[in-house]
Amino acid sequence: MLVPGMRVADVGAGRGLMTIPIAEQVGPAGMVYATDVDRAALSLLQRAASVIPAARRAPVVTRPLARPFDTGLDDVAAGSLDRMLMINVFGFGAGTPRQEVVAQLRRFARLLRPGGTLVYHQDWLYPDREFDRPALVALFSEAGLHLTGDVPMPSHIPAQTQFFDLGFSAPPVVLRRGYILLFGP
Ligand SMILES: C[S@@+](CC[C@H](N)C(=O)[O-])C[C@H]1O[C@@H](n2cnc3c(N)ncnc32)[C@H](O)[C@@H]1O
Repeated sequence: MLVPGMRVADVGAGRGLMTIPIAEQVGPAGMVYATDVDRAALSLLQRAASVIPAARRAPVVTRPLARPFDTGLDDVAAGSLDRMLMINVFGFGAGTPRQEVVAQLRRFARLLRPGGTLVYHQDWLYPDREFDRPALVALFSEAGLHLTGDVPMPSHIPAQTQFFDLGFSAPPVVLRRGYILLFGP
């Protein structure tokens, strides 16, 4: 739950589909950071924020990332964020460069206040590219982020689907329903 005054980071925010309503929910007393490797997306996000009067939303600070393992948030005070969102941004699996990912997650973990929550939300899981739940939980735990909650995926999302990831010349891949996991420091 988001309440007025909260400080939130939306990691991999894209064009701000989630960021903008969050900025409205936490209001002018709150604070929202939005990071992404895509500068153009963050420009659109900033523009979308600017059409909402400052009195009706939190300040929105965009942080373009130069490299995939940057956090863009290393200057944010330790223990100062109430929520961190990772929504359909990172898939962790067999190819995950574990040390780099754990180091990045550790830098995220230090930003959360005690009792704060990092939401890891992945709609769909690619075969081989994504860990199952226990392996994912172990990865986060190595970085000091411990499972605090598990939000059931809505029932309209089926257990699996087929997806032509590489176009029709390749067979479709079978994606499994993902998960919404909550982690705390
Ligand atoms: C499917 S979009 C989701 C955007 C947003 N979270 C949402 O739910 O609407 C994935 C976003 O993650 C960004 N992204 C990919 N790799 C990233 C990384 N290493 N760090 C930060 N953002 C990344 C992409 O540029 C893209 O904007």
